[in-house]
Amino acid sequence: MIPKGCKRLAEVDFPIAEVSKHAAREKSIRHGHPSTLHLWWARRPLASSRAVLLGLLWPDPCDPLCPAEFKAEARRRLREVGGCNPGTTDAELRAALLRFIGDFANWDLAADRTYLEVSRALVKAAHAPADGGTYEPPLVVDPFAGGGSIPLEALRLGCEAFASDLNPVACLILKVMLEDIPRHGPKLADELRRAGAEIKRQAERELADLYPKDPDGGTPIAYLWARTVRCEAPGCGAEIPLVRSFWLCKKASRRRALRHRVERPNGQSPRVEFEVFEPKTEKEVPGGTVTRAKATCLCCGAVLPPERVRAQLAAERGGADVIFDANGRRTGGARLLAVVTLRPGETGRHYRLPTERDYAAVREAQARVAAMLAEWERGGKQGLCPVPDEPTPAGGGSGAGRAFSVQRYGMLQWGNLFTARQKVALRTVARAAHDRPQTGDDAIRTTTAMVVGRCADYGSAIVSWAQSGEFVRSTFGRQALPIVWDFAEAVPWSDASGNLDGAIDWTARVVEAWPGSRSGQLQAADATDHPLPDETAHLWFTDPPYYDAVPYADLSDFFLVWLKRALPGHPLLRDPYDPTNPLTPKRREAVQDETKKDDGRAKDRDWFEETMARAFAEGRRVLREDGVGSVVFAHKTTEGWEALLSGMIRGGWTIVGSWPIATERPGRLRSQESAALATSVHLICRPRPDDAPVGDWADVLRELPRRVGDWMERLQGEGVRGADLVFACIGPALEVFSRYAKVETAEGREVRLDEYLEKVWEVVGRTALENVLGTAEARARNGVAGALEEDARLTALFLWTLQASDGEAADDSGGKDEDEEAADDEDDDGGARGKAKGFTLVYDVVRRFAQPLGVDLAKWETRVVETKKGVVRLLPVAERTTQLFGEDGAHAVAARLEEAAALGTIPLQGTLFPEMAAAPRLRGRGGRAAPDVAGESLAAAREATTLDRVHAAMLLQAGGRTNALRALLEAEQDRGPDFLRLANALSALYPKGSEEKRLLDAMLLAVPR
Ligand SMILES: C[S@@+](CC[C@H](N)C(=O)[O-])C[C@H]1O[C@@H](n2cnc3c(N)ncnc32)[C@H](O)[C@@H]1O
Ligand SMILES: [Zn+2]
Repeated sequence: MIPKGCKRLAEVDFPIAEVSKHAAREKSIRHGHPSTLHLWWARRPLASSRAVLLGLLWPDPCDPLCPAEFKAEARRRLREVGGCNPGTTDAELRAALLRFIGDFANWDLAADRTYLEVSRALVKAAHAPADGGTYEPPLVVDPFAGGGSIPLEALRLGCEAFASDLNPVACLILKVMLEDIPRHGPKLADELRRAGAEIKRQAERELADLYPKDPDGGTPIAYLWARTVRCEAPGCGAEIPLVRSFWLCKKASRRRALRHRVERPNGQSPRVEFEVFEPKTEKEVPGGTVTRAKATCLCCGAVLPPERVRAQLAAERGGADVIFDANGRRTGGARLLAVVTLRPGETGRHYRLPTERDYAAVREAQARVAAMLAEWERGGKQGLCPVPDEPTPAGGGSGAGRAFSVQRYGMLQWGNLFTARQKVALRTVARAAHDRPQTGDDAIRTTTAMVVGRCADYGSAIVSWAQSGEFVRSTFGRQALPIVWDFAEAVPWSDASGNLDGAIDWTARVVEAWPGSRSGQLQAADATDHPLPDETAHLWFTDPPYYDAVPYADLSDFFLVWLKRALPGHPLLRDPYDPTNPLTPKRREAVQDETKKDDGRAKDRDWFEETMARAFAEGRRVLREDGVGSVVFAHKTTEGWEALLSGMIRGGWTIVGSWPIATERPGRLRSQESAALATSVHLICRPRPDDAPVGDWADVLRELPRRVGDWMERLQGEGVRGADLVFACIGPALEVFSRYAKVETAEGREVRLDEYLEKVWEVVGRTALENVLGTAEARARNGVAGALEEDARLTALFLWTLQASDGEAADDSGGKDEDEEAADDEDDDGGARGKAKGFTLVYDVVRRFAQPLGVDLAKWETRVVETKKGVVRLLPVAERTTQLFGEDGAHAVAARLEEAAALGTIPLQGTLFPEMAAAPRLRGRGGRAAPDVAGESLAAAREATTLDRVHAAMLLQAGGRTNALRALLEAEQDRGPDFLRLANALSALYPKGSEEKRLLDAMLLAVPR
């Protein structure tokens, strides 16, 4: 038994870099990984959950109170694993335990017998009663359990786990993962494969005529559709297929695309006809017809504005279905663009144009839906409507509701997100799953329901076709439900992604990969009203909702409506607080979303903070007094952080440690505009003693910079950078503050947390500037002699914050994978995800740092930065040309840079102003004399700052204006060291591979020695 006063390992040290490496890698592990059982958004990696759990469960051997039995057992058992030499001293033993934790974070070892046994044995040695009484494994409690990473890992390590979540879909996943799989082991997988095969046979039998084979023996595997609208230009009236790209397949070995011709039959509206062709170059493929909800007519070129596109689609409930006349002729609605088939004796996928047979099958599916509904109505509407008629989320607002735009397109019921054929197919699979004979407990049924969820994910009308990989994507490429103009409909049993076999196999593999454990406990519960009695948990470890980042309840309704139809009446699939609610509970969900109400009160920041405080207070209540807590958090805004921290402190906790762990795949987040960071900070906390002392503000302020400085140094050594580093500093800062019952000024005024956090951001920003520009800048306020100006400080801090933890360039332009490409194409009117160039940061973060460092953001608006919709963009140097050189110079620079971009190279040599190379002055288009771009005249034109001069030099470098550049550089050498100091600092800060960095480095080479 670990005495209360003995520190846990995670309170003193943690293998940050090693665990980060494994956690980031885990995201790309597919088969058998528990996250593939069923989609849940923003799951924590198992690697970090496992590692932090061990750090919390094991005592620090260097602590004088560390139980001797634990140390003895650790020395004995650690020898069983390679690389963990326990040595002879306590410090060596600590190092060996940390090494074990780092190694065991590797997914490849997660089911390794030796690692499992050693970790379980050491948990037991730490927690067994000293008097030899019966051992009860420690209880780990997670009240926001979601997809279950934390409780699952607790089971792996031999603990008891109690998981709860408010959300019914999460609860069902948790039940399968924590109860069904451990209880039944691999035989559940066998049963699932058997049941799955029968379901597939039944579905195939019932649905065969809806997916007819081609007369030539070909088998369709996916139908590629476009929603359509009508052109409203006078005299046109053509149908506009909404298509974002006419590519069908981009594989080098099989390039296929669509091209069109316009037919103008007499007396009728013009019409577009397609053909499949083999493009040789990108240029041959026509551009799409829709961007940001604006549609362009292929027949007359007119543009249909977003309001009209929405209104037309809304009239068709989103327009995913075909509209037929009484004779079965298509008159509107979705249009088939192409059908992907497999042909006997041929390898690879084949693309053909649609035929009448394809439409006839759709018409048959519509008739089946109508029959299903008629039957249900005849039967007095008993039970659930066979087609999900529950309402979709209204969306909107500036909080979590941003994720939903479906209602704007008339998709008011969940059923509207599916084509008629998809509805029949899902309904058939769901019913086949639920009709199976009941044996023993309901494990096989709930596990089969996971398969239904997966089929829905790949079987909605908001999935798109991946042209490079030739597969059907899933609905949730990101944590949102956007419209998809041209969507793909997969054949459920074809040999393609998203098929039924795949769904069964993925699920079965998760079951098979579980190494065996005791089973956990799951309960649907609100974290602010926890079901456990007082002082029962050894560990309270949770990953709470991230402010406004993920609207879990609304998102999960997508699955709930189908799961309910697969498991009618299942006790977990209901709102425990409101029996009349057909969807997931919304009122008590902890999320910042002002469009939602709790007892008439908008769920704003204060509401979120209070809810967190109540959940943390509950955590403190259920935790034993010798217990430890941990909270995972990752959010890109300081507001999200303040709400969480204030909740923790009000809930009665004190923070005793914090570890940032990289949990995201590098490079993914930025282009998704996700509100998450690449690292999640794991805060380690203890219940704050009731008799905690009152702190002195002056002492706290004295201690803060030292703690932050030391911590930044350590983290930088572990590869943590930029915004990740900023938020990782909150841990030690809070350690200083939260150990007191309250902190008071000399006058006896209580210091509020937000006031303290202002100081924290300031100290972090100052320390960062000290690192990048040297001490003087960090101290500088406006006008302090010897310091660089505000714009230099702003730029440096901006670039510093932007640095990514993985050390890669954080440039927005490159490195997109196919999923992200899809997200870009969706309707996104006014979203912050603009295509504008330059680096961006959340406004809130920039503001926090700028102000205490004496930077007046407003003053630099349009000169150095540009703020739009809560996002600040650092202007690329090329966009500053007009400011620096006037209109004509800018024109020449722009033309040259564009030309260079088209060639794919930014020339470092060559001439930007070819005429100017010969003559000192350029004739502008208006016949005015061009400005002289030498350094001296620049300084004279306006009080040029050091940053202006560095940027000017970069532009001269870009233009190959060697003479002007040399003149400027020489002038700078006479002037003083600032220019070079800043240029060198910026060179270190601009992302690798960015245009700016290349220009800077080339310019620096030109500096005379
Ligand atoms: C960040 S997620 C947890 C993710 C989980 N750690 C995983 O790896 O999948 C937060 C969870 O809190 C749940 N939640 C939101 N409000 C809640 C409340 N009031 N009580 C309990 N759970 C709630 C959401 O449903 C969501 O699953
Ligand atoms: Zn037209």
